[in-house]
Amino acid sequence: MQSGDPDSQQRSVNRRTEVEEDHQTQPTGDEEDSRPRKLELEIREIEVDDIPEVFHLGEQIFTVDRVPTLYRTWDEYEVTSLFNSDPEFCLVAEIGHLIVGFALGTTVTKTRSSWKYGYLVWLGVLPEWQRDGIGGRLFDRLAEKMIEDGVRMFLVDTEADNTPALDFFKKKGFTNPEEHIYLTLNLKTYRQIRRKARGAARKHQNGNHS
Ligand SMILES: CC(C)(COP(=O)(O)OP(=O)(O)OC[C@H]1O[C@@H](n2cnc3c(N)ncnc32)[C@H](O)[C@@H]1OP(=O)(O)O)[C@@H](O)C(=O)NCCC(=O)NCCS
Repeated sequence: MQSGDPDSQQRSVNRRTEVEEDHQTQPTGDEEDSRPRKLELEIREIEVDDIPEVFHLGEQIFTVDRVPTLYRTWDEYEVTSLFNSDPEFCLVAEIGHLIVGFALGTTVTKTRSSWKYGYLVWLGVLPEWQRDGIGGRLFDRLAEKMIEDGVRMFLVDTEADNTPALDFFKKKGFTNPEEHIYLTLNLKTYRQIRRKARGAARKHQNGNHS
């Protein structure tokens, strides 16, 4: 089970430091210049070889303690199926060969409507790279692609208490948050309820026949 435990957070921070240090020690061709160099962020479409990395990244981002519903629904098929259906709307953010975030989207058209909707299904940035504008860059590129594709309205959803995401989407201009309730059903409980209901129905039938 993935969680936001201190060890994994520490590993994440170390990875960011490693990428930054590695970048600083690479020769620039201008060895006189001692100013710290800025890491380049590249936003690009996902490639087939990125799929496992993106899946594991999601495991580190959608953790049970931070976003329990996203944690439950995130799996490898989320990445593979969106990659198969909408590769142009599946983007990654890469810094020095490390993928640090991704946006996976799709479009929806309805039979009796001329409107095309864009749906941002998954957006995530590794915790140690958050608040650096990476989510914003991923979102902006995806929005550009959706506009080019004729999308007129963008939809997103997230948990009601996911304040970082809600603040992020508000800043991007999303309005009209409509409440959406997630319910869970333990299927063992469901089977017990069904068994009880069948028993009650049988009793009722027998009662009617006697
Ligand atoms: C939501 C998320 C993708 C934002 O990514 P990010 O790279 O940190 O976002 P940015 O740095 O571009 O932030 C842009 C703005 O969003 C808002 N914002 C982002 N994170 C925030 C936070 N933790 N608290 C408050 N506001 C926040 C701010 O207004 C911010 O602008 P500012 O930094 O100038 O104040 C990231 O927090 C994340 O991966 N969360 C976990 C997964 C998730 O909930 N995904 C969304 C649903 S699928």
